[in-house]
Formats: sequence, C-alpha cells, structure tokens
Amino acid sequence: MSGSEYVTRFPEVREPLLNVKGAPGKNKRVLPAPFDTAGTADLPGTRGLPDLPDVSEVETVRHFTRLSRLNYGIDHGMYPLGSCTMKYNPKITEEIAARLAPVHPADTAAMEPVLERLAQLQDHLVEICGMDACSLWPAAGAHGELTGMMVISRALKSRGDKRRTVLIPDTAHGTNPASCTIAGFATKAIPSGEKGYLEASTLRQHLDQDTAALMITNPNTLGIFEQEIHAIAELLHENGSYLYMDGANLNAIMGVARPGDMGVDCMHVNLHKTFGTPHGGGGPGSGPVLVGKELEPFLPSPRIFRDDSGAYALEEEPYPESIGKVHSCLGNVSVCIRALAYILSLGPQGLREAATTASLNALYLKNRLKKFFDLAYETPTLHEFVLSDALQKEGGVTTLDMAKTLMDFGFHPPTVYFPLVVAGALMIEPTETEPLEELDRFVRAMENIAAMSREEPEKTHESPLAAPVSRVDEVWAARNLILTWPDGRIQPGEEGI
Ligand SMILES: Cc1ncc(COP(=O)(O)O)c(C=O)c1O
Repeated sequence: MSGSEYVTRFPEVREPLLNVKGAPGKNKRVLPAPFDTAGTADLPGTRGLPDLPDVSEVETVRHFTRLSRLNYGIDHGMYPLGSCTMKYNPKITEEIAARLAPVHPADTAAMEPVLERLAQLQDHLVEICGMDACSLWPAAGAHGELTGMMVISRALKSRGDKRRTVLIPDTAHGTNPASCTIAGFATKAIPSGEKGYLEASTLRQHLDQDTAALMITNPNTLGIFEQEIHAIAELLHENGSYLYMDGANLNAIMGVARPGDMGVDCMHVNLHKTFGTPHGGGGPGSGPVLVGKELEPFLPSPRIFRDDSGAYALEEEPYPESIGKVHSCLGNVSVCIRALAYILSLGPQGLREAATTASLNALYLKNRLKKFFDLAYETPTLHEFVLSDALQKEGGVTTLDMAKTLMDFGFHPPTVYFPLVVAGALMIEPTETEPLEELDRFVRAMENIAAMSREEPEKTHESPLAAPVSRVDEVWAARNLILTWPDGRIQPGEEGI
C-alpha cells in the first residue's frame, strides 16, 4: 500500500473540511454588518466579514459530530499510553476552570481571587512534594525542566562555580537532555543497573568537579522507583552538585513519598498527567518548578505576594537573583485551577489512594500480561511497566503490529519503542480510574493478540482493520510533512509542504 495515499477503510468516514462543503447561500442566516467601522479601515480584522465557509447549521453540527466519532479519547475507553498518564478528567474540575473564562488578566480586582487560588496551589504543591518554594509559570513538563535548570545555572553563577555537566541516567525521560542543553549544560548519559535503577556506585564513577547536577526521573520510565535515591543525593551534595528530579511521574507517589525528603534540590511536576488535566491531547499543560530554600532566590518572577491587608498581588521586585520571566501573564492558569480543584476534591487521603490505585492497576495488568509477553525487568514497578516484543518477534510480529492490532480491539495503543533501554518496548500505564472490567477487557485483547501472533501472524501486519484510517507509511509521513489540508492538490510521491 502506498504510504502517501490517504487510506480510509470506510469512504463515508472521510470527512472533508467545512470550506470544501460550503457553497454560496447555504447558510441562510444574514449576519449584521459590522458596527460603525469609520476610521478603522487600517486595523487588522476590520475589512468586512471574515471568509467563513458558507454551510448550514445542520451540516456544521454533523461535521463536528462525525469528526468527534472518528476520534478516540479517554471518555471513550482506556488509554494505556505509558508516560503520558491519560487520566480521566473529572467534569467538576473542567466546570470550575471554565468559570475563569470571563476574567481578563488586566482586571486587577477580578484577578485577586485568582492569585489567591494560585498561591493556594503553590502551598499544596510545596506540601505534597516536601519542598520549600514553588513557581507555577512553566507551561509544560519540558518547560519546567528548562526553568529548573536555568535556576541551577543561576545558582552556580552566583556562587562563582563554572560546573557545566549534567548527568542523566538512561532511564530518564527523553525531554531531559534537550532541556539541559537549551539551559547551556553539556549532558552525559549514565547507565542504570541491571535492575533498572541507577546505582550509587555507578554515579560515583561519573562524578567530578564539573558535575553541576544529576537529572533523574523518579519513578523512572520503566515505572521503577529509584531505590538508591538517598545515597545518590548524599553523593551529589558531598560533590557540590545538585539533585534535579523530573517529577512528572509524581502521580505514582503523591501522598506516599516526598521528593524533598529524598534530598531533591529542584524538581518539576506535570500538573497535566498528575492532577486531572490529560496529557497527550496537545492541549495546555503546566510544569511548576519546586525548589529547596537554597535555590528559592533564583526562581522566576513575578511572584505572588500577599500584602499587609491580606490582598494578593503580583510582584516583580525585589528579586535581584531571579532568572526572570519564563511565561507571559500567569502561566496556564486554567490548568492550575483544574489541579487545585482536583487536589481539594480528593484531599490528602484521596491523593494517596489515587497513587496507590494507579500502581495496583498497573501491577494487576503486569502480572496477567507477563504470561504472554516478555517483561523487560523483574524489579517491582509502580504506575507503569514495560513489556517487549521479544516473544512475538520470533514469528515476525513486532511491537508496531501489536499496537495497531490493539486498535481493532477498541483500545488506544500504548506508548511504543520507548524507553530506549528496552528493544521493542510497549509501555503500559492504566491510571487509577480504570475499573476492573476495563482492565480485564484490555487483558483479553492482549491475550488475543498474543494468540494471533502465534497462529496467524500475517493478520497483525494488516491491522488496524476497524479504524477509520488503516496502516500508514510513517516514514513517508515524517519525510513529507503536509501542514495544510491536502485537498487533492498533493499527489502521492510529491513533496509535502
Ligand atoms: C517523566 C516525564 N518527564 C517529562 C515529560 C515532559 O512533559 P511535557 O510533555 O509536558 O513537556 C513527560 C511527559 O510525558 C514525562 O512523562
């Protein structure tokens, strides 16, 4: 099958763009002329009505309804995308966040209660993580990593230290080396031990006077808790280096263990992934940075400040050592408000239960699936685990084949070929809200796929058969980016735009 074809198994689900469907006069509504436009001719957006597709209401509704039915989401079924933590999003948190929509950031009076809520969230995060201070501004996990490493860079500068190397275990998240590099550090990958976590003895061999920090993902991308974290923190501190923890997997340990108690100096958390908002949907995220006392002066500004009257305001000064602004306005406020609503609705016990239930669900799946699939590491895991295609590969069935076949069983595929320490990885994360019935349905689907791989391996190469778009040529797609609707203008084999 040519990869450049737009492949749909069911022609009726090939949904054209609205402007392709439009034709003059289809929309019978007459929009009023723009109000008095005198003197505004040169302002952008004031030259008459925009060129909207001319379609009727029913066509518009059907268009979006059909598109939504071609999609797969967490409201549809389990979404076992490891590392992305596709949690169910409680509707109450969405509703509360939506109440912010009318608030304009320039309206100081309206913003005051918002600042109060943000300050409250900072306090909760500080407590949950066992750190001393927090900045909510970074807009995503990777942005949090960058901000945290800029804080460390500034702290080193302030003490006249020229260290420039950050050590990163091979089980770290993929964004870690990129963030350190952008913050101006050189990175060096160090191997985790055969049990899937970093051993202090390995770290010791790599430490020297150029080591600025270790950036460690904990729990790591194998779902394994870094068991030597205390010894690791001690070694780093003795060496004058910082311990940075990628805390994006906090959802596995919140309410149970606190990074501050492990000796962490600086960390970020992903509010999406952990406190309600989904990850992986391309929507807004939030990656707050948390630090211990020593690094607090270097956190971004402005900061939320409570004046003598008890009112909340933003304050640019006096923070002479701050790294400054990392985001316009207040970061992704609506994600922060969702996170606060999630934290308050669950409470300390509820957060702990969410973490332990997520791990229990993952353990249940792991123990049932390891009978049919190769389990990369035997070490106990928390919220996610990694299988490989080692057993199926003998019959010519790869991780990609299995992921695509899973779609025919009504599931979104798990994360594949990551982490890189496992060849042919299938990284599975169920999250805490999946009921036993859904976990069992997933196990049955995976068992079926294991059986197909033994008995009819060729069938897996054709999957998905039930999805609107079947197997596409991903290499072709990556090399020929088409960033506009093809509209019949780009022919197979032609260069994309
Ligand atoms: C462990 C870990 N670190 C960092 C990130 C990066 O977060 P973001 O995608 O929000 O930049 C992720 C995202 O999934 C993650 O799982």
